Amino acid sequence: MKSIVILISGRGSNMEAIVRAAIPGARIAAVISNRPNAGGLAFAAAHGIATAVVDHTTYTDRAAFDAALAGAIDSHTPDLVVLAGFMRVLTADFVRHYEGRLINIHPSLLPSFTGLHTHRRALAAGVRVHGTTVHFVTAELDCGPIIIQAVVPVMAGDTEETLTARVLAQEHRIFPQAVCWIVEERVRIEGNMARVAGARESGVMISPPPEDV
Ligand code: GRF
Repeated sequence: MKSIVILISGRGSNMEAIVRAAIPGARIAAVISNRPNAGGLAFAAAHGIATAVVDHTTYTDRAAFDAALAGAIDSHTPDLVVLAGFMRVLTADFVRHYEGRLINIHPSLLPSFTGLHTHRRALAAGVRVHGTTVHFVTAELDCGPIIIQAVVPVMAGDTEETLTARVLAQEHRIFPQAVCWIVEERVRIEGNMARVAGARESGVMISPPPEDV
């Protein structure tokens, strides 16, 4: 049985998707938030999952916060630590401590649109496809070997809200899938690449789609 700790900062809909997936061989040991009022904490508690808050505002610097956070995480001896809408930049020491067992979901097709406001920036850039990425965390922000990505079309008339919703629906599919593959020990890191044993490889997506002639 693999032990998983999920870190959140807010609503926690991705954490919820992972919990609801009830991945065989995985046990969600704890959900930890850096914000006491994170909506997702109530969902986790209601599902019998241990919850904890490590409030970043009560620490004088990033290193002290990260050390306290690592202490809370490590008390559950996790095999995998999942950043699910965890909105804090982590120190290099923290990332190194969890090397190879720390994953994040980022709401863009990395390496495009690292950082914040990804949907707004995708609309402003006029891209035809957008999406979301699950990747291993490395010291550089929003980098690290990519495990899975979902691509969605950007449609005429899209607003930040409609595009956000389209991407979020796919996040809820690919994040549990990535966790499942890791639990099944099918993911291997090779340099800057993550290889998924037995993953299907097929298809093409063109947006807007060409007209059949
Ligand atoms: C998601 O869009 C995720 O990609 C980003 O923050 C959002 C978190 O949403 N990092 P939720 O808290 O999981 O609902």
